This record gives sequence, C-alpha cells and structure tokens, in this order.
Amino acid sequence: MFIKKKKPWHIPESQATPEDMYLNRRQFVKKAGLYTLSAGVLFTGTGSLIDIFGKRKEEMIKVPETPTSNLYPAKKNEKYTLNRPLTDEKVAGKYNNFYEFSSGKSVWRNVDKMEVRPWTVEVTGLVEKPQVYDIDRLVKEMPLEERLYRLRCVEAWAMAVPWTGFSMAEFIKKVKPLSSAKYIRFQTFLNKDWAPQQKYKFWHPWPYNEGLSMAEATNELAFLATGIYGHELPKQHGAPIRLVVPWKYGFKSIKSIVKIEFTDKQPATFWNTVVPNEYDFLANVNPDVPHPRWSQATERIIDTDERVPTIKYNGYGKYVAGIYEKA
Ligand code: MTE
Repeated sequence: MFIKKKKPWHIPESQATPEDMYLNRRQFVKKAGLYTLSAGVLFTGTGSLIDIFGKRKEEMIKVPETPTSNLYPAKKNEKYTLNRPLTDEKVAGKYNNFYEFSSGKSVWRNVDKMEVRPWTVEVTGLVEKPQVYDIDRLVKEMPLEERLYRLRCVEAWAMAVPWTGFSMAEFIKKVKPLSSAKYIRFQTFLNKDWAPQQKYKFWHPWPYNEGLSMAEATNELAFLATGIYGHELPKQHGAPIRLVVPWKYGFKSIKSIVKIEFTDKQPATFWNTVVPNEYDFLANVNPDVPHPRWSQATERIIDTDERVPTIKYNGYGKYVAGIYEKA
C-alpha cells in the first residue's frame, strides 16, 4: 500500500522493494551473478539462493501442519477458472502485503512467531446465535472447494491463484444473521509479539478490519479461504482464514480473521480510516478511476512483469455489477 502521510516508522514500498529493482530483477540477478562469482552465491530480493552455475535453490514456502491438513487439496469448482496462467506459487508466497508484519513485501521472512493453532473465529452482533468457532471445527463443517481467482492489488500489481475454502454465502446461511444486519465487519488478530508493526498503535488503528455490505457478502464470489495451491494457507497469505473478494482491490481481502460481526451500520475500515481520500469503502477495481497518485488503467502481473489492461470489477462484472447498479 502506498501511503501519503509518512510516519517515523513507515518505509514506503518504493524503499522496501525498489520497483525498478523488482521489475528488472531478472537482469539484475544476471548481472550481479557475473560479478559475484568468487562469492559463489547471491542472496536475491526474493529470497532465492542463486549459485554460480545459475541454479536456483529456492527457500521453501512454509505450510502449517494442522489437525485439518488432510482435507487438502479440495475438489476444484470448475465454474471459477481463469483465462490467464496461475501465478508461480513461490512468487505469490514471497510478495505479500501484511502490514502487521512488515511494510515491505518479504512478509514471509517475518511471520515465524505467529501461531495458527489454537485459533478461533468469533461470530457476533446481529446473528441468531453468536458463537465462537474453533477453526478446525469450522473447516470440517463447511464444504471445502478450490476456486481460481484473480487478485488485483490497489498498488497496480496482480496475480492469479487457486484458493481453497468455502463461500461466504454458505457461511452466512450457517450462522443465520438477523434481518436487521446490513453489513459485516471482519477483524484480524491483535498480537504485538507476533506482529511487530502492531506496536505502532499511534498511527494505525490496529487491529486491521474490513467490511462488506450484506449484498456483497452474499454474492457467490465472496469466499473465505483457508488454503491456497492445494494446501493450507501459509502465514503470509493470511492463515488460518481470510476473506477473498476478487472484484475489489486486494486490501478488502482481510487476512487472519478472528472476528466476524454482523451490524446495521457501515463499519469503519482500516485503510479508509488511515487515508480516507485514497482508499474508499467499496474499493471496486476500476481502470477509469485513478488512485490519487497513480493510474489504475493497467496492472503488472507479478511473476512475468507483463503489463496488461485492468478490467472493471477485475473481470467479474457479470457476477457483481448488479449489486451497484441497483444501489
Ligand atoms: N489483511 C491484513 N490483516 N493486513 C494487511 O496488511 N493487506 C491487504 C490484504 N489483506 C492486508 C490484509 C492487501 S493490501 C492485499 S493486496 C492482500 O491482502 C494481499 O494478499 P496476499 O499477500 O495473499 O497476496
């Protein structure tokens, strides 16, 4: 996320992962490799070891082992496929936004302290029966499926990934909200020992939170993901459970959820509170509405560096445009 107001601790993404360096990574690695022959290996920005013979020794993407690991991979739902290739798993797992852990992209290096079990999700507010779900109970009770979705970050990069999880609509049916519920508020954990950036409370309104209207949350695309690439979510992707709303900018897809609250008021949300003139509540992908500081007309595919046109609603207009046309 690019942020206008600079605070003492904030490292803009341009410093954390220089865009030019990232975009030219392949050339950079090639050139640097030539000059570091005597050292034998080069540690690159993506965390790979390149040896002098040009072979890559990738560091593994760590996947948590849990009591429900045996449920993955889940059956693929053929309705949700893509007309673009899937992003390389190692690239997707090493280029993340998770501001609790880092304001750079190498979140995967900073998540080890986080514990994903035990984990509970509190369902509260305007529901028939507020309750606290143990994550393994929830995952066992819901029908897991795999869906291929695009993900478009507001920073104008994009990827395409196979999520595993269950539809938000199914979850809503299960927890039975009252008719007075108009919105859902989602909340991430608060734990300064795991997530060092949460110490800087003076600026960020931790914990991270997000919201959807009931019409959005019950749209068939809204998904609660517990897995990716045929296994459980690695921590950097938002283990053990996160939201995925592919027609909206990625910041709406809140990670590591601990609380889901049904409410009659539009909830305040994290980025909209921090920089209201740059990140709105709806945050629907739209090439015609530039961010105040950059264009949204095109997007960069993170594993190929290709630039492609942005599509309204991230290509999901046939599913979701009706929600907003009615409004
Ligand atoms: N959720 C939490 N709790 N904290 C975050 O910083 N970043 C968001 C979103 N969910 C974020 C979050 C942003 S800006 C994006 S683009 C996506 O997560 C990125 O998801 P990914 O890292 O799995 O690709």
